[in-house]
Amino acid sequence: MTKEIAENALKNVIYPGFTKDIVGFGFVKEVVVEGNDVTVTIDITSSAPEVAQTIYDEATAELKKAGAEKVCINIAAPKMPRESSSKGKNIAPQVKNFIMVSSGKGGVGKSTTSVNLAIALAMQGKKVGLLDADIYGPNIPRMLGVEDIRPEVQGNKVLPIKAYGIEMMSMGSLTEDGQSLIWRGAMIMKAIEQFLRDILWSELDCLIIDMPPGTGDAQLTLAQSVPVTLGMTVTTPQMVSLDDSRRSLDMFKKLHIPIGGIVENMSGFIAPDTGVEYDIFGKGTCEPMAKEFDTKIVAEIPLEPAIRTGGDSGKPIVYAAPDSETAKRYMKAAEDIWAQIEKINEEGGVDNEAIQPTTPPGVSACSM
Ligand SMILES: Nc1ncnc2c1ncn2[C@@H]1O[C@H](COP(=O)(O)OP(=O)(O)OP(=O)(O)O)[C@@H](O)[C@H]1O
Ligand SMILES: [Mg+2]
Repeated sequence: MTKEIAENALKNVIYPGFTKDIVGFGFVKEVVVEGNDVTVTIDITSSAPEVAQTIYDEATAELKKAGAEKVCINIAAPKMPRESSSKGKNIAPQVKNFIMVSSGKGGVGKSTTSVNLAIALAMQGKKVGLLDADIYGPNIPRMLGVEDIRPEVQGNKVLPIKAYGIEMMSMGSLTEDGQSLIWRGAMIMKAIEQFLRDILWSELDCLIIDMPPGTGDAQLTLAQSVPVTLGMTVTTPQMVSLDDSRRSLDMFKKLHIPIGGIVENMSGFIAPDTGVEYDIFGKGTCEPMAKEFDTKIVAEIPLEPAIRTGGDSGKPIVYAAPDSETAKRYMKAAEDIWAQIEKINEEGGVDNEAIQPTTPPGVSACSM
């Protein structure tokens, strides 16, 4: 048995609920090999006791398979129930609040929602940033009409691009030079970390992060890098999409991110000629799911040609048609989200002292 063999064996242990292994996530802190005996120290962020147990079982099995005799594994319990959220590490400390916009499925309107909520918050006087964390399919620059603008580089940092009163950064805005600056490792996790650390964001009231679809490494990286104040899920009313959204809400729970609510997008259709609203995919079908997760629908955004044309032409609807019904719904959602953020921040200190005792058990044991 060597340290290398042991570490390779641990690479077969996938972190529960994600696609990456515990070594790749950097959770394995120490591996000590003496003869054929292996002692491993693992730090995890999840407070769910079953996560520690699953990792313990799988790591033990993998190490034995690789030839270890006595295996000792210490998995430290996370210090606080919300370690990966508001009390966690913040690699972009000039940003006060982070809003993660997710969906289980692609194409449901995450980017449209992120853009319009960001501008709505800015119109309400907040200092807002928008990070396009969709590394492989960045489309925020086009939605903001800044697809031809390249950011200024200062030393090894990059200035965000300004549009409609917000700051923005996206893979799509970087030239090849800029991309190699930001994205050396061709790894989504690294790219997101650098987007947070190496972009010269101002002192922001909030940074809205438009996530790639799904519940994968990008989401976990974000939650590990900054305290995510609020998670928003975007869904369309169809059933398939709902199952996916449930996964997205589940992920927020797993990562201890407070759920800010659901944006039900393409909910009904507003005819451009008459302004009459028709119910197409069903409306309000997200309500039961909202109840299940103890949250609410913060906006029902209709299927409306003006939303798509606004996105395609770089003129988001909240800005281009502030009097439209849709713009008003985004504005109302932005107010609601901000009220939730204020509440979370106000309760933060109190929560912290009150909740301490629910520390979950770690796992620490040896097996021969
Ligand atoms: N309510 C709406 N009415 C009409 N068109 C919409 C609406 N919401 C989004 N769209 C359009 O649907 C398309 C997909 O939206 P968007 O890019 O925001 O989705 P997404 O979830 O970010 O997709 P991806 O998963 O690819 O990142 C875009 O062309 C957008 O303009
Ligand atoms: Mg998108």
